[in-house]
Formats: sequence, structure tokens, C-alpha cells
Amino acid sequence: MKNELICDNLSVNAEGHLCLAGQDTTALAQKYGTPLYLLDEDRIRANCRMYKGAADAAFDGRFRLFYASKAASFKQIYRVMREEEMGVDLVSSGEIFTAKEAGFPLENALFHSNNKTDEDIAFAMDCEVGFFVADNEEELYAIEREAERRDARQKVLLRLTPGIDPHTFAAVTTGKVDSKFGTAIETGQAEQVTKIALSLPHVRLCGYHCHIGSQIFETDALLRAADTMLSFIARMKQTLGLVTEILDLGGGLGVRYTPEDPTIDIPAALAGLGLAMRRTALRLGIDLPVIALEPGRSIVADAGMTLYTVGTRKHIPGYRDYVSVDGGMTDNIRHALYGSRYTLLPADNMTAPRDLVCTVVGRCCESGDILQERVKLPSGIRRGDLLACLTTGAYHYSMASNYNRLPRPAVVMLAGGDSRVAVRRETPEDLTRLDV
Ligand code: LLP
Repeated sequence: MKNELICDNLSVNAEGHLCLAGQDTTALAQKYGTPLYLLDEDRIRANCRMYKGAADAAFDGRFRLFYASKAASFKQIYRVMREEEMGVDLVSSGEIFTAKEAGFPLENALFHSNNKTDEDIAFAMDCEVGFFVADNEEELYAIEREAERRDARQKVLLRLTPGIDPHTFAAVTTGKVDSKFGTAIETGQAEQVTKIALSLPHVRLCGYHCHIGSQIFETDALLRAADTMLSFIARMKQTLGLVTEILDLGGGLGVRYTPEDPTIDIPAALAGLGLAMRRTALRLGIDLPVIALEPGRSIVADAGMTLYTVGTRKHIPGYRDYVSVDGGMTDNIRHALYGSRYTLLPADNMTAPRDLVCTVVGRCCESGDILQERVKLPSGIRRGDLLACLTTGAYHYSMASNYNRLPRPAVVMLAGGDSRVAVRRETPEDLTRLDV
């Protein structure tokens, strides 16, 4: 069996309890209750530093990193990003507001989204968000109108679709021509939108953006996207005399959810990307722009874990065994939405033989509320035992819902041997707060 402790911040202590960042998950569950999101802050910081070192080496110091905060967005995360001197990628007025409340310096932020409302655009300008990533022509005009009203000049990147399919899950593929995101190179619209941007007096076109998808293991797809973008940049230099300052290649590098998933060596991947891009730039006769990256998942995913308490067990002779937990699709929609694989472990009993094969389900009124199938657990597992779902730092808390009026779990951060609440658990009063 491959090592189920898929990240080196996981261990098992003398009592047979699973530990995250050296802290006993059984003790944490007792202290904070379940379901509970844990986030290893030291790991998040280490991931930021790893990216920085890797990008610095790969792009000769000419890089910018923007943490894609849709992966996990709450005030403490933005404080950590500020301390780590990371930029952030924000996709809504809500994320902008949260970052601002956390005191994040918004000049070091990008504002994404394929459909920014006029109110979003005005709010982002009020907050002095550094860069807007304009998705399309219509949005460019809306940015121009608002900037003109303020007599300002807004820095903008244009989001393009390079027409690359990274062969990841369809719902998270974004770089194909047929996409709700961005403006296509292939159709000639990218060139057209570039000309428009250059003609708008209150827009300062700083460069281009693309993001081909998420949970990518084929780093070759990134190389092809970079190549297509550089060729386009060279063409814009030739035809329009445009010197592109920034090329943002988005995020998307995959992480391990199960022992079967491959490991991506991010420094090696970025080094390969840097080398290939320098060669391409040389061949095309352009200077390599500053390279921006927007990692989300690969910054926070392996820092996270969700703890659940086991409830009902059900054996259906000739069919299967169900083990239910006190959370489910409200705190983890990813299996229901994408069929995502996870590693689930009996956190308070790691040494017992795993002789039960079961389906772990949540407590929502919906048959699709499944966390994982074919999970191996000790056959003695029963009500009150603790279950851990690994790698839940990205797209879990941020995609959580109150379906069935279930309160969202607390987020507890672990740092330097201590733990503290970063987002408190919702109460019944929180659930009715907006009801009139
Ligand atoms: N930049 C842009 C423009 C993006 O759309 C995304 C993710 C990222 C960066 C960050 O990608 P990452 O490094 O996290 O792969 N909810 C899905 C993932 C959706 C990703 C959306 N965009 C999931 O749970 O797998």
C-alpha cells in the first residue's frame, strides 16, 4: 500500500492518533468540535516561500505571485499573504471587501471575474485594486467609463484564451476557445480587443492573462499555453508596436488528494517553463515580460484537513456499508460536483486494521451527498469516532453552503504548535440572521 500520509505535515502519534502539523487531531476535535476545518498555517507559508524561490530562479527575479484567494478566502488568509508579501487574485466585491478588511494592500491585487458588474468595477476602483483583468471587450468599455468618471487611468490585463485543453476535469477547464472566460486568440478577437484597449485613454494596458484550468498534472499544457501567448505578444509587437510588460499565466498546478496521485515538483516545473519561455522569446525577438502566476490550490490544499464525527452506520446485506458523518456536501461539495477522490482516515484509531469497505456519506437530505466511496476503515468504527478527510485546504470552506440549514464549520489555523480560530463556527442565530 502506498503511504496514506500523503503530505509530510501528517503523522501518527504514540496513541495512534492522526496529527496535522504535529498536533493531535483528536485533541483538536475535542477542543473545537466537529465538523472542523484545520489549516496548517506554517505549511501555507512554506508553500508561498517555495513558489517565490522557484519563480525567482525560473524567471530571473522578474515575476509576480498572486494567491488565487477563491481557494480559501477569509481575513486571516489575507493577513498571511500580506506577511508573506504575496499578491492576491480577487474575483468579487466580496473577496475585495474581505481582503480590505484584513488590511491587505490592494495595489498588490488583481481583480478577476468574467462578469464584473458596474458596481463591482466602481467598488474595486474605490478600493484602489491594482490591476483589473478585463475578460472581454464589453468589460473594457465599462472599466473605461468608470475610470473616466474618476479621471483615473486603470491598469488592465486582458484575459485571453489560448485554445489549450489541459485534460483536467471539464468543469475546471477554462483556456479553450469555447469558454465563458476570456477573449479568443484564434478568432482574431484578442487582437481586436487589444486595439480597443490601446485606444482607451483611461485604460493602461499592462499585459495579458490566461488560465487554462485547474488540478493540472500535464505541465506540458502550460508550456503550450505560454508558447501561444508569447507568439501573440510578438505579433502585437510587430503589428501594433505594443511592448507587453506582464504575462500572467494563471494558476492550476495539481495537488495530491490520494496516494495514487502524482507529485508535481513545482520548482522543476517552473524552471522548465522559464527555460522554454526564454528560448521562445529569443526566437520571437521579444523581451520576456514579467511573469505572473496565480496559484490557489497548490498554496493551501495540502495545509488543510476536515475532521468529522461518525454517526449512523448501516449495513445493507448484499449491497454495501454506509458510514455517515456530521458534515457532508455542505462542507465538501467536490465529490458530488466533480467526483473528486479523497483520502479518508480513522483519525483516532490509525493503527487498527482497515477491514471494512464502505461509502462515507454526509447528513444532507440528498442521496448524492457522498464524501467518498470504497473507503477502508476499521470494522469496529462506530458512533462518536473521528474521521479525517485529507487535502481540504482549497475549495472547501470557500465552496461551503448552508443547505438544509446546516451551520458551516469553524476554520482553525495551526501555527508554531498552537491553534486558533480563524473563522468561528456558525450558530443557529447566524442561520436566521438575514431572515425577516
Ligand atoms: N486564476 C484563475 C483565473 C482561476 O480561474 C483559477 C481557478 C486560479 C487562478 C487558481 O487555480 P488553482 O491554482 O487553484 O488550480 N472549484 C474547483 C476549482 C475551480 C478553479 C477555478 N479557477 C475545485 O474545487 O477543484
